[in-house]
Amino acid sequence: MATPRTLSRSLQKLRYPSFRSISQLGHPSFSTCSRIKSHSPLTCQPRVVAPLLRQFSTSPSHQHGHIHKPKEGEELYVTFIDKEEKEHKLAVAEGDNLLDIAQAHDLEMEGACGGSCACSTCHVIVLDEGFYEKMPEPEDDENDMLDLAFGLTETSRLGCQIVMTKELDGLRVKLPSMTRNLQASDFSSKS
Ligand code: FES
Repeated sequence: MATPRTLSRSLQKLRYPSFRSISQLGHPSFSTCSRIKSHSPLTCQPRVVAPLLRQFSTSPSHQHGHIHKPKEGEELYVTFIDKEEKEHKLAVAEGDNLLDIAQAHDLEMEGACGGSCACSTCHVIVLDEGFYEKMPEPEDDENDMLDLAFGLTETSRLGCQIVMTKELDGLRVKLPSMTRNLQASDFSSKS
């Protein structure tokens, strides 16, 4: 099975094919290529390697965030209140987390670390303390990231760590007016 390292090497090979892989693809060998003296192998890349490049396609927004379609009669409801105070009540499936749900519905939740609990850009404020109490306690990682969140409140959580369960049916969360993306601010402070 391919490991992340071998996958990354394969990707690198596709981007920067070695001289050998170019000739294996049927490119004239370096001794017979009449243009070889005037340009590097990489300048041949568009002609020779193009068939190998992966095709990219766009997907409709409802496929973002990898959420599940709720089964009929088993829908759970969660309401997001956005920065403009607009309410978005959504029918969702058990097991999906708030980051994926928000992104699948094009709500403004950045999720800079992709849900690995390493940023605070999926910060949400749980509006009902009763629901907040029903959620499993945040782990240390989540608390560490929450400490960095802009506008932290007593009922703040990270959206990527909140998984919808039957107990959370009817949950209402507010998206904070701002989030802090430390990586982005690092870059801007250096420039
Ligand atoms: Fe980064 Fe949730 S997306 S912590």
